[in-house]
Amino acid sequence: MKQGSTFSRIIWKLIVSVILGVLMYFGSGAVGFPPAFQWMFVSYVGLGFLVFLLLDAPPLPRLSGWPAGVALLLFYALLSGAYIWGASAWPQYDPEVEKGKIKKLLKRKLERFQASQGRVDDLLQQVKALEGASAEVLARLSNFAPVMATPASINLPEGRAMTVVDRGREVYELYECYNCHKLGGKGSVKKRGPALDNIGSFLTVEDIKRKVFDPTYLYAEGFEKEHKGGKGKMPDKYKELMTDEEVMALATFLTTLKNPMADPPTPRPVFVKSNVEHGFIVFGYVRDAAGKPVPGIEVHVMPKKKGGHDAKGKTNVSGYYEIFMHMHNEDVGVTVSVSAQNSTKEFVTEYDPNDKVTKRQKSLDLVIPSAS
Ligand code: HEC
Repeated sequence: MKQGSTFSRIIWKLIVSVILGVLMYFGSGAVGFPPAFQWMFVSYVGLGFLVFLLLDAPPLPRLSGWPAGVALLLFYALLSGAYIWGASAWPQYDPEVEKGKIKKLLKRKLERFQASQGRVDDLLQQVKALEGASAEVLARLSNFAPVMATPASINLPEGRAMTVVDRGREVYELYECYNCHKLGGKGSVKKRGPALDNIGSFLTVEDIKRKVFDPTYLYAEGFEKEHKGGKGKMPDKYKELMTDEEVMALATFLTTLKNPMADPPTPRPVFVKSNVEHGFIVFGYVRDAAGKPVPGIEVHVMPKKKGGHDAKGKTNVSGYYEIFMHMHNEDVGVTVSVSAQNSTKEFVTEYDPNDKVTKRQKSLDLVIPSAS
């Protein structure tokens, strides 16, 4: 009875061990262990089975004396032998060989990575090539259809005018005209010069060009004092600084400014015919007895002083004349005679020698009794 139960217990342990072994094998395989490890786990189950068998083994007779020592040594040799055999029974691994294998694995991965990088490089190159091609196509398109270019394109006749005006605005900013002039209510905090919002209603491109290059050419009405001098005087440095292209663009830009409603308003320009300090202008109309204008007639002006020079001019179709006389500050009070044919008039020059701004001039009409 005791024998049978021992046998059935061994069978029972065997069955459990086989089930455990099978579970171990597939379980470790499922988790990703290589076959060698799968078998190693199975062998552990086998070892466990052996240990449990030993538990059921009948007790050995008690030994003493030297047989006990011999038995101990035998047992030790048996265990050692079992271990050595077990260890050598398993497949052996050389670390160098393993390193080589790992290197090979990594190399293949690296190669695959580099290959994919190469593809990326290829793609980038293709993108570049496409970009080049599209730029070429755009360039060719713009040859055919300039309208496709930017709005400020110089290919458009209207665009060209736009560009000059824009350029003029740029020159205006560049030379800081805004320091003394207001435009659209902006600039000239110190109110030195007039607002220019309506200057295009008064001045031509040529006028503005001359004013910028020679500020004495004209002055803004009401700004005589500023024109004369002082801190806020318009500088006369632009002639040296500006190129022809710049002053043309600037003048073109300013002639586009035509806002009569601007506040503050743009003052009218007063033309200075010549440097007032050295000149005096006599102007007026020559008519016949019937009041009809006499065109093409010669008019003479003569300062009645020692060394005075005769100056002359001719009337235009309207019978209007304008004669510039050379006259200095000290010539104030000199009598001047004006004559056309047999008609003569005289006047005395009146001006403030210290006023270097206000035009020195005299309006004088002549009547010719008998037009030929
Ligand atoms: C330092 C101040 C100052 C600067 C800078 C200046 N101006 Fe003037 N400007 C004046 C003053 C003051 C007047 C009025 C007196 C005169 O006409 O000389 C004037 C008058 C003018 C007038 C005549 C306006 C009118 O209503 O008749 C024009 C045009 C003009 N300036 C254009 C310009 C331009 C263009 C620039 C820039 C390149 C400029 N100015 C820079 C002070 C300045």
